[in-house]
Amino acid sequence: MFTRRVAVVGTGYVGLTTGACLASLGHQVVCADIDTAKVERLRRGVVDIVEPGLSDLVTEQVSAGRLSFVVGATAGVSEAFPGSSGSGDLDAEIVFLCLPTPMGVGGVADLRAVEAVVEETRELLAAGTVVVNKSTVPVGTAGRTAELLDRADVAVVSNPEFLREGSAVHDFLNPDRIVVGCDTAEAAERVAALYARLGAPTVLTDAASAELMKYAANCFLAMKLSYVNAMAELCERVGADIGDVTEGIGYDRRIGQAFLSPGPGWGGSCLPKDTHALLQVADAADFEFRLLRATIDTNTRQRQRIVDKVRHAVTGRRTGSLTRVRLGLLGLTFKAGTDDLRDSPALAIAALLRQAGADLVGYDPALVAEPGNPDRPLVDEVEGVPLVNDPTEAAQGAEALVVLTEWPVFRTLDWVAMAGAMKQPIVVDTRNLLDPATLRRAGLTGYGLGRREA
Ligand SMILES: NC(=O)c1ccc[n+]([C@@H]2O[C@H](COP(=O)([O-])OP(=O)(O)OC[C@H]3O[C@@H](n4cnc5c(N)ncnc54)[C@H](O)[C@@H]3O)[C@@H](O)[C@H]2O)c1
Repeated sequence: MFTRRVAVVGTGYVGLTTGACLASLGHQVVCADIDTAKVERLRRGVVDIVEPGLSDLVTEQVSAGRLSFVVGATAGVSEAFPGSSGSGDLDAEIVFLCLPTPMGVGGVADLRAVEAVVEETRELLAAGTVVVNKSTVPVGTAGRTAELLDRADVAVVSNPEFLREGSAVHDFLNPDRIVVGCDTAEAAERVAALYARLGAPTVLTDAASAELMKYAANCFLAMKLSYVNAMAELCERVGADIGDVTEGIGYDRRIGQAFLSPGPGWGGSCLPKDTHALLQVADAADFEFRLLRATIDTNTRQRQRIVDKVRHAVTGRRTGSLTRVRLGLLGLTFKAGTDDLRDSPALAIAALLRQAGADLVGYDPALVAEPGNPDRPLVDEVEGVPLVNDPTEAAQGAEALVVLTEWPVFRTLDWVAMAGAMKQPIVVDTRNLLDPATLRRAGLTGYGLGRREA
């Protein structure tokens, strides 16, 4: 079997998945992270992100001797490639950078983590090493990384990652495509060969196209969601039903059924920062990307629209007051299937509701305590929203429940008991998740988005 020695720097959602999956493909992987406590937990077999299959895969690959964890990029490179001294050893292999690239000042991507690791490791890399950037980075980063490395004998490759949180392992092992961008064909082919066993279509291209491709994909998805949210609003105004409209258009293969559900606005650790970063890339290239700006503006407006909907549902008036109105929030993560709260639309809406004076209490199945598990303690508040361990506690005395994350378990809650605990029987379902007939039978009035019943 074709195997390589690989160092993965950054063991978050992307890095840990990359490390464990590459090990499962037979490669010898050392994962490095700056977070000592995280590395210590990983060494004990504790994966502290909610990601189906990841924990088992990590345990399996560690037992098989193909995966290990170290603190710091320097140790990662040294342990992955023992004997390398930066002086031309033949065992130089591949270093993946899976580092955070959060939104920086003015919306530009903050590349400090990537640059710090490049600085830290540049002299350790053996001749012939390939540095692969899996982080989402603006066009030109591969070139700047090469400048920073200042090593003619080390290639820089862009290999953007398209996995989704909540199905990261599945997505990594069953990708729609692999993208490898480099201005040197030999380095690109070495990276593409790592994935050969997956049998996925592979796009070999230049570094700039690979870097742009990741933003092009995420911004297209954001645009699709903003479009659906705008269409849901139009449905409400003209008496149409968004579920029927999206079902009808989704059968068109040019459109597809995916990403057609209205919601509280897109969020998470990728779409907000990536849309802003691409806008900055466009600005720097003197291109007025109006479509993208409108995509972002529509999303910002969507959050206020949800607050207005809650206000109207609870008070019966568009200008009614939410001061001291108790609201139970169901779901705080940015989507179901993950515990990730970064840039969650639920938290953005919670902040607006609090500004409007509401008293909030939240419940999220990914944030409940696991009795007897010290690695899953009780989270008692998130960004000022007190959390409870049970959905009926969130309903207790509430004047409305607001469903903000599409956790399937909410569908089968005991809605009669929920209604019995509430002060007012109102549910605002920003995900169109719940069955309106079930709510009606429980004596609740449900408000969805763009639904005929709304
Ligand atoms: N999360 C996703 O769904 C997803 C999908 C595709 C692409 N991406 C992109 O991949 C990149 C990583 O995202 P993520 O969600 O895995 O981030 P993350 O925050 O979950 O993980 C980043 C890890 O890097 C570590 N780190 C930071 N600085 C370091 C340093 N100097 N040395 C070693 N480790 C360091 C952090 O401790 C953390 O564990 C981002 O650019 C993101 O846009 C993310």
